[in-house]
Amino acid sequence: MDIKNLVSKLHPLERKLLPFISQHQELQVLVNASGLQEIEVMRALQWLENKKIILLHTEKKKQVSLGKNSQAYKKTGLPEKIFLGVLDQEFKGLNVITKKSKLSREEVNACIGVLKRKNLIEIQNKEGMEIKITTSGTQSLQQKFPEEIFLQQTFPLDEEQIIDKTTYDELRKRKDFVLVEELKIVTATLTELGKEVAAADLSIEVINRLTTEMLKSGAWKEKQFRAYDVEINVPKIHGGRKHLETEAIEYIRRIWLDMGFKEMNGNFVQSAFWDLDALFVPQDHPAREMQDTFYLHGKAALPKIWEKIKTTHETGGVTGSKGWRYSFSKEETEQVLLRTHTTVLSAQTIAKLKKEDLPAKFFAIGKVFRNESMDWKHLFEFDQVEGIVVDPKANLQHLKGYLTQFYHKMGYEKVRMRPAHFPYTEPSLEVDVFHPVRKEWVELGGAGIFRPEVVIPLLGFDCPVLAWGQGMARIIAEYWNITDIRDLYRNDLKQLREAKVWIK
Ligand code: DAH
Repeated sequence: MDIKNLVSKLHPLERKLLPFISQHQELQVLVNASGLQEIEVMRALQWLENKKIILLHTEKKKQVSLGKNSQAYKKTGLPEKIFLGVLDQEFKGLNVITKKSKLSREEVNACIGVLKRKNLIEIQNKEGMEIKITTSGTQSLQQKFPEEIFLQQTFPLDEEQIIDKTTYDELRKRKDFVLVEELKIVTATLTELGKEVAAADLSIEVINRLTTEMLKSGAWKEKQFRAYDVEINVPKIHGGRKHLETEAIEYIRRIWLDMGFKEMNGNFVQSAFWDLDALFVPQDHPAREMQDTFYLHGKAALPKIWEKIKTTHETGGVTGSKGWRYSFSKEETEQVLLRTHTTVLSAQTIAKLKKEDLPAKFFAIGKVFRNESMDWKHLFEFDQVEGIVVDPKANLQHLKGYLTQFYHKMGYEKVRMRPAHFPYTEPSLEVDVFHPVRKEWVELGGAGIFRPEVVIPLLGFDCPVLAWGQGMARIIAEYWNITDIRDLYRNDLKQLREAKVWIK
């Protein structure tokens, strides 16, 4: 590193402080020596450390000073010594002692405790209490008490320098005798580089700021400016960022758009007609029960084709099947609910298609709602990815191709399909992806080819419609190693800031 260059980057505070850091210097010493404020010294030290000019070392230390009581006793003498002196004569009761010694009753009680512990007095209980000084008590009066010696030291005192630990521990138990303060001692040491910098000429006047006056007068030509340090550590600034879920959804949307699909959109609030009946879900199907579906107040307006759907449910109508053979309820189909799957959008899209629009491919990504109890892998709302391919030439191989392609782009190599059942598809499949780390198959949702009972009433003629609908919450959470999907929705700023950005 070029020393001159480094010197030119130094802030005036660093420049001022550096000569005072010879080899090894405590913060407080630096504050006193440099005449700078403590906060200025702290900042300059931090900057110097970032530039590897010094090393900072923090050490914790306990500092001991005298409390209110011990300060007073240092002048008047220790109460226990006074007490013992008075006791030397004949014991005439505690009141007399208290009076003679001029101690408070509280102090007298404390003295009895202390002196008893040290065996300097003895308490006898004959007719009433009697306190007697012991032989060692009498002897001790000739000398200084260890407490007196202790108090004569110069305070504040570094706890580590205390020699008579027993007395120190004893005094700490007494009220307002010693105060212990924990200190952080910061010391700065010059590095090898620092020694070179400190030896360089730091006196050159460098300018921090270019002013209009300097420009006008041309004075800037003679000045030397402080160089910008582009490598210095600065506080992290967190720019705005989309929520993790939004990032993932946008990525998913991009995949389908890239494959030539058009996006389907629609409301969260839908009729039972579009969400269930148009998809040939029989009206007594268990999924319609209150415990699965969120029903809302009100009554939905039905489109004209509702009667066709009714006939299909009851007798199969023109579809050639026998239908579900029950009596279709208008009230049931008019119910309003929160969409239970994005398949509702597929039904609505097919109903709008004309022959000349084919072949056509659509996808949706959006929230669906189910009345589930929440736990680590269930929420009452989650994102579903939906798709349809309406194409006279489409077949099951194509379905597998689209889904395999999609999941490859989501980062899953292996996709598997198993036979399943849905009221609206035949054949029906369950789609799983293989989790390469956990080495297990993850169930994502359904797929299949819509039955004629769905397609004919909505489209007006039969045509293969490849269809799928899969839950995305789990693989979205998985991407950030979130195992409890509830965590995805905790607006935890730290989590949001630190999460890696979804692959673009
Ligand atoms: N709607 C089904 C669900 O929410 C998933 C589904 C299955 C969607 C088969 C489809 C499909 O489009 O063909 O669980």
